[in-house]
Parts: sequence; C-alpha cells; structure tokens
Amino acid sequence: MKRILICMGSSCFARENRENLLLIEEYLKSHDLTDSVHIEGSLCIGECSKGPNLVINGTMYHGVDPDKINDILAKELLVI
Ligand code: FES
Repeated sequence: MKRILICMGSSCFARENRENLLLIEEYLKSHDLTDSVHIEGSLCIGECSKGPNLVINGTMYHGVDPDKINDILAKELLVI
C-alpha cells in the first residue's frame, strides 16, 4: 500500500496543508485509489521553513502548494 504522510504541524497546516489534504482526498476518490493509499497526518517534522511538507512513499516534498499537488500525486501514485 502506498503511503502519504502529510504534516499537520501548525506551520504547514496554516500554510497550505489544510487545503492540500482536501485536494488529496478528492484526488484519491476521483482516481479510485482510496483503498490503495493510506493517508496519515503527522506532527511537525522539523522542516517548517521549507513547508508545507508532505512525504509520499518515503520521498519528502517541500513547498507543496495546491497548484503542484496533482502533478506530485500523479507522479507518485499513477506509476505502475
Ligand atoms: S509544521 Fe510541518 S515541518 Fe514543521
């Protein structure tokens, strides 16, 4: 199962991860991936200055804004 760790620490949450989380949930639903991808929130992962941050399958992404999220998800989740 693929895994998305989204930082819900106060800095990332206040920047864009609150919106990113909603977009991720929508993306998984629309691509029928809700059963094959696990989403988990985390406390601050110590990279606030580069946030908002998330980790997908062990790769950390920085500065994830809502304009970039779909491309990142496609790259990580749609690759066979
Ligand atoms: S709040 Fe996300 S890295 Fe600190």
